[in-house]
Amino acid sequence: MFGFSIQILFIVLPGVLALYDYHLLPETLEPQHYDLRILTHLNDTAQYFEGVVKIDLWVLQTTKNITLHAKNLTIDKTGISVKSSRDSNCIENVELSEKYEFYIMYLCKELNAGEKYILEIPFKGQLNESQTGYYKSSYNDTENKYKTHYLAVTQFSPTFARLAFPCFDQPNWKATFNVTFGYHKEYKGLSNTPVRKCEKHEFLEDYIWCSHEQLLRTSTYLVAYAIHNLTNAGTVTSLTHNQVVFRNWLQPKIVNQSDFSVEMAPKILKYLEDFFQLNFPLSKIDQLISPTHKFRAMENWGLVTYQENAFVFNEAYDLQEKKETNCNTMAHEFSHQWFGNLVTMKWWKDLWLKEGPSTYFGYLVLDALQPQWEWSDGKITKDLAYFFRHDATNMTRPISRDVKNSTEVLDQFSKYVYEKGALTMRMLHKILGTENFFEGIRNYLQKYAYQNVEQTDLFSSLQEVANENINLNVVMDSWTLQEGYPLITLKRDYKKGEVKVNQKRFIQQNNLQLETQCWWVPLSFVSQSDPNFEDIQPNHWLECPSNETTLKVGTSKEWLLLNPQVYAIYRVNYDEHNWKMLINTLQNEVDYGGIPKINRVQLMDDLLALAALGEQSYDLVFELFEYLKLERDYLPCERGITLLQQYGSLLKDQAAEDFNLYLKQQLTPHYRRLPKLKLIDSIEIPVNEIAFRRFIYTQSCLYNVDDCVSQAVMLNTNDSSISVPANFRQLVYCIAIEKGTTWDFQQMMKLFKNSPTPAQQSAFASGLGCSSNFSQLKEFLDYAIHSDTKSISDCYIQAVTAALKRDNVARETKQHIFDHAEMLNKKFKRKDLEPILMHMVKELTTPEELSELKEHLKDLSQFKEPVKKVLELVETNLLWLRQYSVQFRAVLLKRIY
Ligand SMILES: *[C@@H]1O[C@H](CO)[C@@H](O)[C@H](O)[C@H]1NC(C)=O
Ligand SMILES: *[C@@H]1O[C@H](CO)[C@@H](O)[C@H](O)[C@H]1NC(C)=O
Ligand SMILES: *[C@@H]1O[C@H](CO)[C@@H](O)[C@H](O)[C@H]1NC(C)=O
Ligand SMILES: *[C@@H]1O[C@H](CO)[C@@H](O)[C@H](O)[C@H]1NC(C)=O
Ligand SMILES: *[C@@H]1O[C@H](CO)[C@@H](O)[C@H](O)[C@H]1NC(C)=O
Ligand SMILES: *[C@@H]1O[C@H](CO)[C@@H](O)[C@H](O)[C@H]1NC(C)=O
Ligand SMILES: *[C@@H]1O[C@H](CO)[C@@H](O)[C@H](O)[C@H]1NC(C)=O
Ligand SMILES: *[C@@H]1O[C@H](CO)[C@@H](O)[C@H](O)[C@H]1NC(C)=O
Ligand SMILES: *[C@@H]1O[C@H](CO)[C@@H](O)[C@H](O)[C@H]1NC(C)=O
Ligand SMILES: [Zn+2]
Repeated sequence: MFGFSIQILFIVLPGVLALYDYHLLPETLEPQHYDLRILTHLNDTAQYFEGVVKIDLWVLQTTKNITLHAKNLTIDKTGISVKSSRDSNCIENVELSEKYEFYIMYLCKELNAGEKYILEIPFKGQLNESQTGYYKSSYNDTENKYKTHYLAVTQFSPTFARLAFPCFDQPNWKATFNVTFGYHKEYKGLSNTPVRKCEKHEFLEDYIWCSHEQLLRTSTYLVAYAIHNLTNAGTVTSLTHNQVVFRNWLQPKIVNQSDFSVEMAPKILKYLEDFFQLNFPLSKIDQLISPTHKFRAMENWGLVTYQENAFVFNEAYDLQEKKETNCNTMAHEFSHQWFGNLVTMKWWKDLWLKEGPSTYFGYLVLDALQPQWEWSDGKITKDLAYFFRHDATNMTRPISRDVKNSTEVLDQFSKYVYEKGALTMRMLHKILGTENFFEGIRNYLQKYAYQNVEQTDLFSSLQEVANENINLNVVMDSWTLQEGYPLITLKRDYKKGEVKVNQKRFIQQNNLQLETQCWWVPLSFVSQSDPNFEDIQPNHWLECPSNETTLKVGTSKEWLLLNPQVYAIYRVNYDEHNWKMLINTLQNEVDYGGIPKINRVQLMDDLLALAALGEQSYDLVFELFEYLKLERDYLPCERGITLLQQYGSLLKDQAAEDFNLYLKQQLTPHYRRLPKLKLIDSIEIPVNEIAFRRFIYTQSCLYNVDDCVSQAVMLNTNDSSISVPANFRQLVYCIAIEKGTTWDFQQMMKLFKNSPTPAQQSAFASGLGCSSNFSQLKEFLDYAIHSDTKSISDCYIQAVTAALKRDNVARETKQHIFDHAEMLNKKFKRKDLEPILMHMVKELTTPEELSELKEHLKDLSQFKEPVKKVLELVETNLLWLRQYSVQFRAVLLKRIY
């Protein structure tokens, strides 16, 4: 069975196929079951796999070819067989389509509709290092530095199963799987289901075959297997219906950093099972933490894989934020066990149907299990901020859009699709009300379990429980099938007690005028005399295409606020009088007049965005921002300051100094309310206060508020009795280096080089990046960028991010990035490079600077998309500098004392 020679027998037809030029497989055959046998060779000298797949095919339409997916596999076509119980066929010829990654077998005679055949294909492939398909990874022993341990693991999502075995690699072709897995007995083997039995290999000494229990009907992208010699950090049985058993596999040196994740896993699964009222159908979940991983994590059914950084938490060095983010990743992957694994989108165009709900329900899980983190408030606020900015450009696309090849499929996996998907689910939740929404979600999961769906299936399930007299399919299509979002403008007639409401698309680049797009917009009003922000189902709709309506709401003496909790994703503009009444309440009423923090954030975000388009004045903006001094919540404070910085940081010279002074004034009352920074090691800080304090201390030191800097310097003594808590260490290290001597810098360099863990390296790197002396900084940057250790080269990104924020080294840092662009392109991905380019925009204000950027980064694949984004942002910024910066500064000057 495994004796065939390695021959490439493909006839490669690049480009377009004459007969079948379509990105989806023909609908002639239905794969019902896969029997997969794979033998893996993995040692210092041999790293490959060989196998046979037997696929049970049901013929839907008579056909003379079998078309499926295969890529980078060696297939001996003479070993292929096609049989039914009463018929034997043969292969006349095979073809490979590079464009669609198809493997096409032309048969000697037709396969008859209504009959069942077994297709058997032998194959062979190299374990690759691209972290896709069936790939290899390794790690070194900490005790014995020269001993390298190997492992091999799969990453099939979205279109990589075809790299591991020939298959119908589309999510709609669900089938059952029997996996039999062969390997050297020194390894442990895992697949989606538990091992049924193991036996000795027929002739290879010390090799075993282990067959796994049958896997339930599923899509190819969710199949997974691995061989490894990792350590199990703990076997835990959950309280779920099937008493699902969890195991957690890590390399030995990080096992002691996994306690929190190991403990949370069974609780999260149990919570979701109760939440969805639908049992998790498998009997075990293995969590495999791989030293290399293409993504943060992957939800394979029963065998979830993670990148190390997304799973471990080091109490002594990591930020609280990391603990929360990791827990959120796990909740997201486990939500997928229902959204994606059980109910799967038909095609990748509707990726948001699994990513949106998994992201949103992941947030709700954290709120339920770790309420003190106040997780969803924070995430939703961030998601909204990103969404409103990103979706206001003309480079944006609908979240549901057709994709026609592997590159386009992979591109769907963007922050934008995940987050707009989550916000869309949240909007549905609030439109329907909690009870109806969950009833609808449960019905949907029940109805479509083990099947495939399109977005209309979700909307129809929700429609059945909706009280609303609206057509959810029509309403929601306006949000998912088109890009962008509307600006809703309210014009009140205070005498008549009426409000005129209209919509138009909000686009950043100064043209709010005629747009043919429109949305179905839910309208919920809150008035000053009845500030009920909880009971928020819409009272009215703005229809599409009818784009203007007049309503009777509110009395003349009170403000109106549209869109409580910002549950629907649009911006709002009011007339000046209404804005002023809102501002007055924020400034003067107890608890901001009941206006919740998420709306306070949005009022600032909207007004600044409107002013940047000339739709409102900066007088009004700064009037609103006066209230920030009184703000007691982290989210509005953080967003308010960050929003101002987006514009203020573009100013130069005296204008920049004026802006800094203004922010210093804004921060001072906050800084004075907090305990002295010097005492940070001696006071217990509630977990929900950590981020707020870190933010205020960091910003206050940046803008030289009171004694912030000298307090921070005091903390960084060599006195070992003072230990700075992990959450505040970066801040203290940063000041220590910025204000310190060459000796201080060299000391920290030494500490950095001797740090054994990425968490420690990262803390020191963020300090080193704060050096105000470029020749010092350069020593560190050169060291980091040339390192072969990933965790060290990652510190380059961190350090230049810090440096680009500092005027005195920003220019030289920019040059350093340009000089090493090719290396960066090799070592990093576009999502790592985008943030550093975004921090460069301040240095990109002349045509020369722009052409320098384009010249240095041209032809570098990972920079291509980030450069496009930066150029767009630069253009927007330049426009703002020309049109509005003078007014911005003039009003700001009036506020400085
Ligand atoms: C590595 O594996 C190959 C294939 O199984 C085998 O032929 C070879 O002897 C192994 N090498 C070592 C050093 O064990
Ligand atoms: C395979 O057969 C189907 C249906 O019989 C046909 O539509 C398709 O074009 C064929 N594919 C190729 C590559 O000839
Ligand atoms: C596929 O094979 C080509 C040529 O051997 C190789 O360059 C490429 O890295 C492989 N792709 C993957 C994903 O393994
Ligand atoms: C493991 O050690 C070897 C030999 O010292 C080295 O070449 C390799 O880069 C190390 N691998 C990792 C993942 O650290
Ligand atoms: C798959 O394996 C199960 C045992 O787990 C066995 O009962 C079943 O018959 C197998 N299915 C096929 C189609 O061979
Ligand atoms: C597997 O790990 C154990 C314990 O960590 C070790 O003793 C053994 O040598 C390892 N085996 C291989 C093949 O790496
Ligand atoms: C986006 O807008 C800019 C400036 O208005 C224009 O130059 C560019 O071509 C537009 N891009 C697209 C994709 O429409
Ligand atoms: C995928 O499709 C896009 C858009 O049609 C095209 O630009 C790209 O080159 C294609 N990629 C591949 C690998 O065929
Ligand atoms: C509605 O939109 C259309 C097209 O964008 C525009 O021509 C029309 O003036 C708008 N009507 C109102 C009442 O705003
Ligand atoms: Zn996901």
